[in-house]
Amino acid sequence: MIFPSVVPHHIAIVMDGNGRWASKRFLPRVVGHRQGVESLRRCVKACADRGVGVLTVFAFSSENWNRPAEEVSGLMDLFAMALTREVPKLKADGVQLHFVGERSGLSVKVAAGIEQAELVTASNSRLVLNICFNYGGRWDIVQAAAKLAAQGKAVTELALSGAMALAHVPDPDLVIRTGGEQRISNFLLWQTAYSEFYFSGKLWPEFDEAELDLAIMSFNQRERRFGKTSSQLGAQLTSPTVV
Ligand code: IPE
Ligand code: IPE
Ligand code: MG
Repeated sequence: MIFPSVVPHHIAIVMDGNGRWASKRFLPRVVGHRQGVESLRRCVKACADRGVGVLTVFAFSSENWNRPAEEVSGLMDLFAMALTREVPKLKADGVQLHFVGERSGLSVKVAAGIEQAELVTASNSRLVLNICFNYGGRWDIVQAAAKLAAQGKAVTELALSGAMALAHVPDPDLVIRTGGEQRISNFLLWQTAYSEFYFSGKLWPEFDEAELDLAIMSFNQRERRFGKTSSQLGAQLTSPTVV
């Protein structure tokens, strides 16, 4: 295992490519999604081992409802099954689970499973795992603005940030998208303002520790300027603190 000098505190992943992984093997797409769950399990462990504090994954987008009914119901069944099977292990491994997204469209069984999973892992602190399910970046901005409006609060950057679905964690440092596409697909639109991006050609079921380390190494080569100049950053690092 490679231990890079800086491990991103918050990694967010668009887990893309399950369908293509299955199609390449002449298997139904849902088999690819099943394999995707295995890949997520491996990734959660790898992140926890490397000292990542927060992992946020995109599991089902607001737009994924537009897929064929058979695939959507396969994904819902898989999600319910994975909840039952994985939560006890995640609980034992110190993972704190959060489900991020619109819950009203979900079945009673799935909604209850989500609530229970959050409840039983709430006191864990080794790794925060946010599962974005029935999530869209636009949905998040709209629900946050609506919340402020309902409370009669002014819309400021700070207030909106505090009303977003990921207000319990800092913004992602590194966003990884597998599957080869180089787009955001309505993932964390607000929170990725200054995230670094890493696009992997691996399909999600193939994403492993080595590829995670490549992404982290790439992150280590970036200069995050946040609007400043390179020399300003250099000065910050070398000059004594002025109080
Ligand atoms: C990502 O894999 C998982 C979900 C969107 C639920 P895809 O199902 O999008 O896989 P590809 O992109 O078609 O290969
Ligand atoms: C993004 O993947 C959503 C998830 C990984 C859950 P999509 O496969 O839905 O994205 P597009 O359609 O290629 O942009
Ligand atoms: Mg896709």
